[in-house]
Amino acid sequence: MATLIPSTPALTSRLPNVGTTIFTVMSTLATEVGAVNLGQGFPDFNCDPALVDAVTHAMQAGHNQYPPMPGVPALRQAMAAKMQALYGLRSDAATEITVTAGATQAILTAILAVVHPGDEVIVLEPCYDSYVPNIELAGGVAVRVPLTPGSFRPDFDLIRAALTPRTRALIINSPHNPSGQVWSDADMLQLQELLAPTDVLLISDEVYEHMVFDGQQHQSAARFPGLAARAFIISSFGKTYHVTGWKVGTVVAPVPLTAEFRKVHQFNVFTVNTPMQHALAAHMADPAPYLQLSAFYQRKRDLFREGLASTRFTLLPGQGTYFQCVGIGDLAVPERDLPEADFCQWLTREIGVAAIPLSAFYGNGFDQKVIRFCFAKKDDTLHSALQRLARL
Ligand SMILES: Cc1ncc(COP(=O)(O)O)c(C=O)c1O
Repeated sequence: MATLIPSTPALTSRLPNVGTTIFTVMSTLATEVGAVNLGQGFPDFNCDPALVDAVTHAMQAGHNQYPPMPGVPALRQAMAAKMQALYGLRSDAATEITVTAGATQAILTAILAVVHPGDEVIVLEPCYDSYVPNIELAGGVAVRVPLTPGSFRPDFDLIRAALTPRTRALIINSPHNPSGQVWSDADMLQLQELLAPTDVLLISDEVYEHMVFDGQQHQSAARFPGLAARAFIISSFGKTYHVTGWKVGTVVAPVPLTAEFRKVHQFNVFTVNTPMQHALAAHMADPAPYLQLSAFYQRKRDLFREGLASTRFTLLPGQGTYFQCVGIGDLAVPERDLPEADFCQWLTREIGVAAIPLSAFYGNGFDQKVIRFCFAKKDDTLHSALQRLARL
């Protein structure tokens, strides 16, 4: 008998352009060189201990088996109540709200549910890194429309020009990662008007909905009937309750959209971990934690911006999220002329603070000499980063 030599069949990648994400690269480097990690977006402080107790309690109470496919009813009802109280949207917990494994799964599932091969999906760049690979996995075509460089405001003429009979969906994200830009009421009205004569669906990534500063209000798609009627509205408890590792989010969408969403969801994850859902439902009974989150992060934003004001970094506006973007073009070091990604490597190794280049959020690596810091950190961490950045 011939000797069998085991060999793994060669693959043609479904995502040939995807490598290790910049977030992993920068976090790994930060750990390696002992830098303060203001790169990847996650808090370095713990969540409310009551939330952890609530999970323990749920487990001890026996909530350890599969929940219903769309999610624990109490959590969906709590979300319905919040959507109505904050945004005036009446949504049915039974047929219009689904609990997902974080916003990431929600976005992928929404795209897989509605995008057919060859359909176009508009993304506004810079954008969160999962959108385009998700569209490609569905066989769709990502149509990249830039937000205005510098202000990161939507350019409705460009969005209008990108609409074609093949456009299936548009993805928006406000408050916006990476820029911290927040869409206004007028922006949302303009979008509503633009989409009104079309069949284009809206995927509204609202994971930073509770981090909006300076007295502004989050303009959820839920507030605009013409948008809500065509939207998957996506939230994440990870961002809101400082538990990014729990990976629990929700999708609110009209009945026909939710029905298609759930067809994919049930064969994708089927259900999301039960005890966390019970804990989150109990925690949502008190709206204070999410209502106070903007003030909590605005104080951190102000602390961080005040510290940066005495450096030569150019501060870009930061109206929401826990990210602050800065220009590097006026720094007094020769490294300011490096591409953003190389500058971030240098900043991590030599100055000891990790950041993310904005070019990572563009398909063509557009380099505008801007980098992103995350300020969801203990004050001590921010002070320590500012001390190091003061050299620049
Ligand atoms: C804009 C945006 N959307 C989605 C997500 C993913 O959220 P989750 O951790 O709930 O999957 C993130 C996380 O960083 C994000 O910044």
